[in-house]
Amino acid sequence: MRRRNFLAGAGTLAVAAGVGYAWSGDRGPKINEISGMPRLTMPPLLDTIETGKLELVALPGRTDFLGKEVTPTIGFNQPYLGPTIRMRNGPLAANVRNELDWQVSVHWHGLMVPGEHDGGPHLPISPGKQWQPDMEIRQAPATAFYHTHIHERTAVDVYAGLAGALQITDGRDDERGLPSNYGVDDLTLVLQDRRFDSQGRMTYDLSMMDVMHGFTGDTMLVNGQVGAAAAVPKGVVRLRFVNGSNARIYSLFADAGRPLHLIATDGGFLPAPVALEILRLAPGERAEVLVDLSDGRPVTLMSGGDPNEGAIGMVGRVRGIIDQIMDRSFVVLPLAVDDRLSPRITEMPRDLGGKLPKLNGSVGNTRRFSLDMGMGGGMMGTGMMGGLAINGRAFDMQRIDLEVRRGAVERWIVGSSMLAHPFHIHGAVFQVVRENGRDPRPENRGWKDTVLVENETELLVRFNHTASRETPYMYHCHILEHEDGGMMGQFTVG
Ligand code: C2O
Ligand code: CU
Ligand code: CU
Repeated sequence: MRRRNFLAGAGTLAVAAGVGYAWSGDRGPKINEISGMPRLTMPPLLDTIETGKLELVALPGRTDFLGKEVTPTIGFNQPYLGPTIRMRNGPLAANVRNELDWQVSVHWHGLMVPGEHDGGPHLPISPGKQWQPDMEIRQAPATAFYHTHIHERTAVDVYAGLAGALQITDGRDDERGLPSNYGVDDLTLVLQDRRFDSQGRMTYDLSMMDVMHGFTGDTMLVNGQVGAAAAVPKGVVRLRFVNGSNARIYSLFADAGRPLHLIATDGGFLPAPVALEILRLAPGERAEVLVDLSDGRPVTLMSGGDPNEGAIGMVGRVRGIIDQIMDRSFVVLPLAVDDRLSPRITEMPRDLGGKLPKLNGSVGNTRRFSLDMGMGGGMMGTGMMGGLAINGRAFDMQRIDLEVRRGAVERWIVGSSMLAHPFHIHGAVFQVVRENGRDPRPENRGWKDTVLVENETELLVRFNHTASRETPYMYHCHILEHEDGGMMGQFTVG
């Protein structure tokens, strides 16, 4: 794999941030001061709360990412990515139109809706057609994700832009003492890494190594923007992270040792904020954190290197996370205080009202899943590709892999081979019971629907929603090249 400036140049950035800010890679704008950087913008907010209606159109577009050549892209209601959809519990009538020349779908990743509304590979929308799921939203407040999910096209189409953030709200963030002013003290941050050619066009040429590792980029994008900085009030700021990358695993941290206070995981709020030095976020995962900027000093959000980079074989696996951070860290997003914005929240909240999962009561079936990559390390780099499967079987649209009883709690033991794989289940939330024989990492203690599996992870999964043989739910690796390559299965709940 090519090592690019994006990663190599980042060490100096951590040091420079706070005093002045230099983007030392040769990609993206070169701007010397944080205040001189382009200002990060939010995806437009599509608020369905008043109307109970949601209109999305998958559209072709053209996007200028680097101020050079434009790239053909796709998006929902706009040229690249889609709006942040805000919803609350109750009926939601969605209408998704497809104005592209090929099939797309909209999977509501993190919405607890039945299989026929889930938008998976069995619910394609043909060119010129629309899909109108009449949904009933009933779940805890959370940050979720939506994206196209056509088998063997998910990776390329998400990469080109068919994805967005989603928030379920109950309108009670003031009672929790949480920032909720969209784009001011409550930022939605869709994290993606992309590759660009010398003309500044975004590229996606999949090599065999990219399929095996998952496709990682050389340039960091937040909400589709390169080299932007966020301006925030001098107070407590809420960051809602959505890992919308095809394959990159982030290890997020703030410079100068400032903690990230985790307040919510995939399935919603924790009981109270948890201060983290590093927040790991794999593709498909979401997390909400608070950062305290009430001292007025800027913060640079950074990420450590991807544990999967160069990790096929043993070398990557034995490297410690601290090594990776020192060697391969890079800037995700600088946050600068803008004195013109008046802070609304200046103290960390104490009680968020969330509950940690406790599913240990009556557990039904135990099932084992092995996330397989070919026949072993010996095959890598020899031109033998493929072998992406679960329990030795590549995904097959015609085969139902499992049947689960509605209302059941099951023990799912998921093992990874060669790489760390983010395991995602549709239509269910779960408790992470054990990771690699230990208690789960702090960011995996809340309700989850996606979790990074390094060696072996044990889950207790609650299946409360139904899915038929016609529109089953999926479980899969959320490295999109692995998913498209066959590391996926499907199940019914009834
Ligand atoms: Cu976000 Cu089945 O995926
Ligand atoms: Cu999903
Ligand atoms: Cu994988």
